[in-house]
Amino acid sequence: MDTTTIQSAFANNNTTDFLPLDGTDYVEFYVGNAKQAAHFYKTAFGFQSLAYAGPETGMKDKVSYVIRQHKLTFVLTTPLRINNPIADHIYKHGDGVKVLALKVDDAASAFEETVKRGAKPYQETTVLKDDDGEVVLSGIHTYGDTVHLFVERKNYTGVFMPGFRAWKSNYNPTETGLLYVDHCVGNVGWNQMNPWVSFYEQVMGFKNILSFDDNDISTEYSALMSKVMSNGNGFVKFPINEPAEGKKKSQVEEYLDFYNGEGVQHVAIATHDIVKTVTELQNRGIEFLSIPASYYETVLDRVGKIDEDLQPLQELGVLIDRDEEGYLLQIFSKPLEDRPTLFFEIIQRKGAKSFGKGNFKALFEALEREQDARGNL
Ligand code: FE2
Repeated sequence: MDTTTIQSAFANNNTTDFLPLDGTDYVEFYVGNAKQAAHFYKTAFGFQSLAYAGPETGMKDKVSYVIRQHKLTFVLTTPLRINNPIADHIYKHGDGVKVLALKVDDAASAFEETVKRGAKPYQETTVLKDDDGEVVLSGIHTYGDTVHLFVERKNYTGVFMPGFRAWKSNYNPTETGLLYVDHCVGNVGWNQMNPWVSFYEQVMGFKNILSFDDNDISTEYSALMSKVMSNGNGFVKFPINEPAEGKKKSQVEEYLDFYNGEGVQHVAIATHDIVKTVTELQNRGIEFLSIPASYYETVLDRVGKIDEDLQPLQELGVLIDRDEEGYLLQIFSKPLEDRPTLFFEIIQRKGAKSFGKGNFKALFEALEREQDARGNL
């Protein structure tokens, strides 16, 4: 599907959207040690302390730290005791994304409309109140143990939501230019991509705006298939990956093995200046997939003229791709934890609305080198 079709898909959907979304509200990670994770994300990525919840705020069995950079909000949650669903989640999956929270105007309607269309309820509509007003939450299950929460905060003026207090810290590292969630990718099991595509179409009113089959995304060894789902206004995009048969194990299969099931593979974060952002992240110890020099010998023949100098992009390992509307710059981190599961993409869009199809070969060869080094290829 070309990008002209992408736009008309958005336009057609605007009038009939039963689940209007204002974008990603936050991403919540269940982690083994939230205090240290918050320090890591602050230090390495330049997030700022925003809010805290724990025993001191009446939350007896877990602790959550909320950190923010521009419109990008992460919640890092850890259990305080065993026999707790958060502890079970971490035992099974390791650290990972539990909640992709979506901003809505009406959380009760979001729950009703999606459950009516077949969503499995995760949280009934709940009104949380404190002196700063109210936040309305509801939630449904998606792939694996991952959930979507619908967050309505139009009548709330507090720092995050009831139950949390402001987190003032003496440690406020410089930001790195991270802006907001561009897209969030889910890895699902064999033959599960199309059922989840149908889920996002039928239950959430999303459209399939792009598809990649194993001819687009295969290298000598491993392969995958992917379909990109977008909501009506295009603010929320969820590509869904499934493994495909190759000579050796697909990268998606490696993820499924180590995550023990389906889940979020990567969160793509937007920046206005990828060279500045990635230079800063590398200086703070974040490691990215390395791209061979040969990629840069031919890339401009493929993508044409770009505003940036090629040299710094090559030094950092930034990839370039072009579609009908412009180009994009993107780079992929190594896994953020010891299991080869979750990683981040940093992306700067200069007109392009696509996802870097022209880079798949170089990218997946780089991923395979890492997978091979782990003995999982
Ligand atoms: Fe991506």
